[in-house]
Amino acid sequence: MIAVIGAGRVGSAAAFNILRYRISDVILVDIYKDLAEGEALDMMQAAPALEFDGKIKGTSDYSDIEGSELVIVTAGRARQPGMTRLELMNENAKIVRSIVREVVKYAPDCKLMMVTNPVDVMTYVAYKESGFERNRVFGMGNLLDTMRFRSYIASELNVSREDVRALVIGEHGDSMVPLVEYASVSGIPITKLLSKEQIDKIVRLTISSGAEVIKLKGSTIFAPAVNIAIMADAVIKGRNRVMSVSTYLQGEYGFSDVAIGVPVILGRNGIEKILELELSPESKRRFEKSVSIIKEAIKKLKN
Ligand code: 2OP
Repeated sequence: MIAVIGAGRVGSAAAFNILRYRISDVILVDIYKDLAEGEALDMMQAAPALEFDGKIKGTSDYSDIEGSELVIVTAGRARQPGMTRLELMNENAKIVRSIVREVVKYAPDCKLMMVTNPVDVMTYVAYKESGFERNRVFGMGNLLDTMRFRSYIASELNVSREDVRALVIGEHGDSMVPLVEYASVSGIPITKLLSKEQIDKIVRLTISSGAEVIKLKGSTIFAPAVNIAIMADAVIKGRNRVMSVSTYLQGEYGFSDVAIGVPVILGRNGIEKILELELSPESKRRFEKSVSIIKEAIKKLKN
């Protein structure tokens, strides 16, 4: 069973994707009980048309999450237009700590996926608050950045998005690092297909595109929700998928005591392995900058 904490737009859309792709039963928890129950009822009524049989329950009672294999935390304040993810930090850290205490109480053996922004700092907060082994606590952010990177590479080349493979590492935020050196189209490095100007434009779009959606429609929903489901599938089905997630570093890439996006193998135990890639000098410089931005933010966390 998967518990989704937060029945807002991202949490409920993620729950719906988990059900419709037949990944797991879902418990949807929100402080607003009516909202959680209403969303669950709405999803249940969609089930016959989409032919899924997964159970869905809306609740405000944390004891309902007992036995969950995976708990996904989406609750918190959302970014407002013009607001950075870091500005949200202390307000959401308080919410996340209180949720994590409930999770530890009722689902002590779960894997814990953070979605609440700023996701790297929230992953750090959740890791520290939970006392879980670090493989069990990770954040969804770079996978979404990666999908944006793939989309813009595909658009520029007018090829199928499915054939584009790539990785973005670093902060899920303005200092993210789209790894140009590891992006390819059916195995062909993008550096053989695109000019430097085209690649620079794609990288800029990848970094700014989340904020652009927020500016236009107030929040991002479809893209984060589907990437949450992809990560849930990797964990619940033990698929060992390779992707970037936010994780607590203990010396990898030369850094410790920070949570940041790096490539991992994601499977039944959460992070099965952190993959340490050789980075180009440019990516290395940008990644180091990204780490220092998150470390600075962590220093500003209030207890
Ligand atoms: C996003 O990038 C808001 O972090 C969220 O879509």
